[in-house]
Amino acid sequence: MDKIIKAGVIGHPIAHSKSPFIHKYWLKKYNIMGEYLRYDIAPDEFQYGVSRLVNLGLRGFNVTIPYKEKIMDLCRTHSPIALKIGAANTVTINDQGMLHADSTDGFGYMSNISAHLPHFSFMGKTVLILGAGGAARAIIGALIESNTAKIMIANRTMARAQAMACEFSERYMSETNLVPLAWFEIHDILGQCDAVINTTSLGMSGQPPLEIDLKLLDCHAIVSDIVYAPLETDILKQAKTLGLQSVTGIGMLLHQARPGFERWFGVDPEVDNDLERIVLSS
Ligand code: ATR
Repeated sequence: MDKIIKAGVIGHPIAHSKSPFIHKYWLKKYNIMGEYLRYDIAPDEFQYGVSRLVNLGLRGFNVTIPYKEKIMDLCRTHSPIALKIGAANTVTINDQGMLHADSTDGFGYMSNISAHLPHFSFMGKTVLILGAGGAARAIIGALIESNTAKIMIANRTMARAQAMACEFSERYMSETNLVPLAWFEIHDILGQCDAVINTTSLGMSGQPPLEIDLKLLDCHAIVSDIVYAPLETDILKQAKTLGLQSVTGIGMLLHQARPGFERWFGVDPEVDNDLERIVLSS
């Protein structure tokens, strides 16, 4: 048997993925004989590409755009959260070559919030989510699991917010109240919110700005962004100026990688400042 433990990340394209920087940093830090590589799989070779990884002896892999939903069909077993949100970013391969799907983006989001705001809890809170894409999906799942009282989902395309609110209400049957909003309604409800979470690409370098007036928020509200380039986005700067607590986006990326690393390489790794610096400068 190979002494080197193998893992990687699949996607298309994949050159942009920062996951190798994260896993290679931890492999070195914990002195583990392992490799973590990028695998670009073309859409028309998806199934073949994945079976090749099994044959290569990988312990598992991360999954990025555009395969987070498609990978579910190739997995024999699924974690409850992957089933609920209908997508996976972390796959583990067992000794028989069978695939297990998990979604750790929600875990990554929550761990990042806890790391920066250890006393904050979403339980019983009202949250505004901006966006209704894949990232919003994982975060909404985690918010429901954390017993958030009300989640308002505002999206440019309101039909997507409506579909997501409807789907999550049916799948979870939880106490959480899910309310879709039109983008222009944001400022009407900000005063009720305990947290604002940006899951859109607005505010990212090269993208349009996210125009929102956070002065309407209560002084105890928190603001978080999943955009990490730039690290301090305009809404986070605005939050800081207003004296609101805020959390940057890079930690979600770093923490979501932990469960995969632990399963494949056997150590629950630490997210530290050096890792953050290396990934931000990569
Ligand atoms: P991800 O998986 O990163 O969430 P996605 O599924 O493409 O990516 O979702 C991107 C989110 O950013 C969506 O909510 C998108 O809004 P639409 O559903 O209307 O497309 C939002 N978004 C992207 N560009 C935007 C813009 N210029 N204005 C407002 N919302 C935008």
